[in-house]
Amino acid sequence: MGGILRTSFGRRHRVSGVGDEGDEGDDRSEWEELAGWWAERFSEGADAEYEEQILPLLASELAGSGRVVDIGCGEGQVARLAARGGARSIGIDASWSLVSIARGRGGGPAFGRALATALPFRESSFDAAVVCLVLEHLDDLEAVASEIARVLEPGGRLCCVLNHPLTQTPGSGQIDDHTVDPPERYWRVGPYLVEQAGVEQVERGVFIRFVHRPLSRYVNALADAGLTIERMIEPRPPETGEDHGLLADPHLAAVPRLLYLRLGRAVE
Ligand SMILES: C[S@@+](CC[C@H](N)C(=O)[O-])C[C@H]1O[C@@H](n2cnc3c(N)ncnc32)[C@H](O)[C@@H]1O
Repeated sequence: MGGILRTSFGRRHRVSGVGDEGDEGDDRSEWEELAGWWAERFSEGADAEYEEQILPLLASELAGSGRVVDIGCGEGQVARLAARGGARSIGIDASWSLVSIARGRGGGPAFGRALATALPFRESSFDAAVVCLVLEHLDDLEAVASEIARVLEPGGRLCCVLNHPLTQTPGSGQIDDHTVDPPERYWRVGPYLVEQAGVEQVERGVFIRFVHRPLSRYVNALADAGLTIERMIEPRPPETGEDHGLLADPHLAAVPRLLYLRLGRAVE
């Protein structure tokens, strides 16, 4: 019998397909309902990928930044990290509930409610921007890319963390196939080139909307906005956390779940 196990933050299966309405433009974000779950499961030491990979990487990438905006900041962990590093840090998020948790957790940044497609800042306001596990939830990638480029000063840096678009396709996941002898364990990749939005159940009773796009769509939309890649990192999955033990498998340990891109805004 085969089965799909957890991928990065637990994507399992899609329950609806292309053409679902997104939340952009709506006053109410689907993340209102997810706020408590997200804050409990993915911050303040609860998640190995954040602790061992995302936060250390962003700390190093943001070192020396003076003014940082964290777009889709959630409960504020990356904005707090930037503030601890000495930056003047601002987090914005579509969800009032997450903004309220972020404000409660404090740590130095200012937090406000705003959409990534309409950033409430003047042009060239920041020398660094972060989008951490956010772009794969948004429909209008071009509008977000152009807003990020607008608020970054020339020479500024965008730090972008994505669920890896190649290994986190819809229908991807770890397969344990016991129908063959010897049993096989491998990572299944779904239809990578098909751009599609859908709601996925990430754990019992928790549904999140994802927009899958090939990596080229991200790279080209950001490049068209004037943001070009300077560095790309594909971290190995963490060795601790829920998947500890499974990652002793050398095949699975070599399949990245996250992708980091550092992009620069060209100096005109
Ligand atoms: C997976 S969470 C990541 C949170 C945070 N970046 C972190 O790494 O802890 C995705 C976040 O994107 C936010 N988001 C979704 N759509 C948004 C939009 N259109 N504008 C701003 N934020 C949005 C959600 O409210 C949620 O906080």
